[in-house]
Amino acid sequence: DAATDPAAALARRPRAHLTFTLPPNAAARLAAAPVEVTTSTADRDDLLAAVPGASAIVSLVTHRIDGEVMDAAGPSLRLVANLGVGYDNIDVPAATARGIAVTNTPGVLDEATADLAFTLLLATARRVVEADRFVRTGAEWRWEPDFFVGLDVSAGATLGIVGLGRIGFAVARRAAAFGMRIVATGSRASGPEAEALGIRAVELAELLAESDVVSLHCPLTSETRHLIGAEQFAAMKRSAILINTARGPIVDELALIDALRDGVIGAAGLDVFEWEPAISQGLLALPNVVAVPHIGSAGAATRERMGDLAVQNVVAVLGGLPPVTPV
Ligand code: DGY
Repeated sequence: DAATDPAAALARRPRAHLTFTLPPNAAARLAAAPVEVTTSTADRDDLLAAVPGASAIVSLVTHRIDGEVMDAAGPSLRLVANLGVGYDNIDVPAATARGIAVTNTPGVLDEATADLAFTLLLATARRVVEADRFVRTGAEWRWEPDFFVGLDVSAGATLGIVGLGRIGFAVARRAAAFGMRIVATGSRASGPEAEALGIRAVELAELLAESDVVSLHCPLTSETRHLIGAEQFAAMKRSAILINTARGPIVDELALIDALRDGVIGAAGLDVFEWEPAISQGLLALPNVVAVPHIGSAGAATRERMGDLAVQNVVAVLGGLPPVTPV
């Protein structure tokens, strides 16, 4: 049985194991490749039981792919292909130590993710969700000068981009078109590309102090875990808006709840959460929070491109070629 006898599996076509359904075009491309495809549920025990003998694991942000999973797959495992640009769910040193390649899907989801970041920016700045909730109550209302007043995004509000990379630049292009001033941290914040958008490179402390909107676009690493916590909220404007479409644990979520509740900052637009898919109840009870369930890259064409890139990596590596987008 190939699932329990790695040698039997190795003698056959290489096998890619998935725990989810690929977008249709990517699935068709994988089905046409000389690769056997198996699926299990995303449950860790199911995954561990299903991977022995696999040559590739196609993973998602929700799967922890660590040494235990790699050892369960055994010596046949050559690739962990993540469907997503962030790969904090994968123990890369453990993979490297075992000679296993790790790939992600960079570049194809920048615009979709920036669209969502900007959606959250506008929705929080102009209190759209709060106003929608209000109008649905059927309460009486009339136009008043101070009714649902928010931040003037286009009147020179300052956007602070923490971790200016591909997605950060895509957000910056939108912000520039809205007439926002832009400050940013990251090695690419001082270069010709940043200059062309009028971006000013700053340290985090200056970014926090100056920004009307702080948007996070750095990867989750041991350095960026809880990069934004009580101390950073205290350094921000009392009206400041925090946007997180990166990774939940970059923000100390309990400190965020305190800051939003106590008026230390103004609002938050969140696509990701520290303990997702769980969302702290205290967070959702706050009127100044807009929350969506990790849908940054959830555009139909974007998801096809992500699937396609993951499959290209599987086909390349299992065909003996170098990975297309190694991390
Ligand atoms: C990404 O691309 O990193 C998304 O968050 C899904 O993993």
